[in-house]
Amino acid sequence: MKVETLRWADNKLEMIDQRILPASFEYLAYDSAASVAEGIRSMVVRGAPAIGVAAAYGVALEALRLSSTLRQAKGERDSFNAGMEAGFTVLAQSRPTAVNLFWGLQRMHGMWESVKGQSHAAVAQRLLAEAHEILAEDIRINRAMGAFGAELLADGARVLTHCNAGALATAGWGTALGVFRSAVEAGKKISVIADETRPFLQGARLTAWEMVQENIPVTLITDNMAGFMMSRGEIDAVVVGTDRVASNGDVANKIGTYMVAVLARRHNIPFYVACPLSTIDMNIASGADIPIEERSADEVRGFRDYHWAAEGVSIRNPSFDVTPAELVTALITEKGVVRQPDRDKLRALFNLEKTVGHREHRDHRDHRGKNGA
Ligand code: MRU
Repeated sequence: MKVETLRWADNKLEMIDQRILPASFEYLAYDSAASVAEGIRSMVVRGAPAIGVAAAYGVALEALRLSSTLRQAKGERDSFNAGMEAGFTVLAQSRPTAVNLFWGLQRMHGMWESVKGQSHAAVAQRLLAEAHEILAEDIRINRAMGAFGAELLADGARVLTHCNAGALATAGWGTALGVFRSAVEAGKKISVIADETRPFLQGARLTAWEMVQENIPVTLITDNMAGFMMSRGEIDAVVVGTDRVASNGDVANKIGTYMVAVLARRHNIPFYVACPLSTIDMNIASGADIPIEERSADEVRGFRDYHWAAEGVSIRNPSFDVTPAELVTALITEKGVVRQPDRDKLRALFNLEKTVGHREHRDHRDHRGKNGA
């Protein structure tokens, strides 16, 4: 089954409601920037690249909505522009950590600036085309990362992942789970160990569901079992996704990832991060500058109306943590594998022409040549 996390239908954006998976599979429809922002905030859609794609559609939907209500008269142009700016603002406030959200908005803002002089309808159509392109590009990028990542996994590897960095977290295929899909496609018999990922259970609900759908062997564990499994030699590699990588290679990802990275180092297990370039934030010096979302205490207190925590206890719910670059064996990007990431290697990644002689980047060029990706 092909998972279409986001799709365009009847002039609306439809997104799988990830809050109710796997018990129910349902699409919800969105027709404005504000409604998409609410979909992101409430976790109907989640996962860094998927949030970026959703935000791009949010901008296009706002342009379509405004163009259908406003005529082209002079004063109306100001209202259109003000409405668009408000749309960008509400989307930018939906979630703070995944940089793909801001990357997507920046790209849409650039496109909007370049067509601002045209009719409202033409602007809206151009923005919609750009959102479609961002979606298609995301799948191509995941495929490219998958091919590079698959080479790092041995046949028979037992690979741990944390949270959900799959088709549901992207426009399709996935980053970390894309690596697994590509490995299987290449004929490798890998098996996946999925951390359940407290408190929102993206591992138990989403990663397990995706792997089961595709008959990729998957074993679910609670987050506190990873150390035991590693100490027993039952995990060969870790592959996770990321929400933001700082310019020095520090990696923000779902809360609990740092713990896994420390354990992996203790047990000499490679720790890989699948990371499209849109997730690398060259504007911040280190992971200390990454804004960490603090979510509702209710997620920790219990489930829906049932509270298992003692009433009156104080609760923390940071949703992400930062793994220092020194614990990262390699970043898997669409441009190749960056081992032991640091500032110089990441800078080079964004300026490929200056990196002739860098082995991993030459690999990428070979790959492009072969597959036309
Ligand atoms: O809070 P979430 O579910 O949006 O967090 C998602 C993650 O942490 C993912 O691992 C990350 O976004 C990478 S998704 C390809």
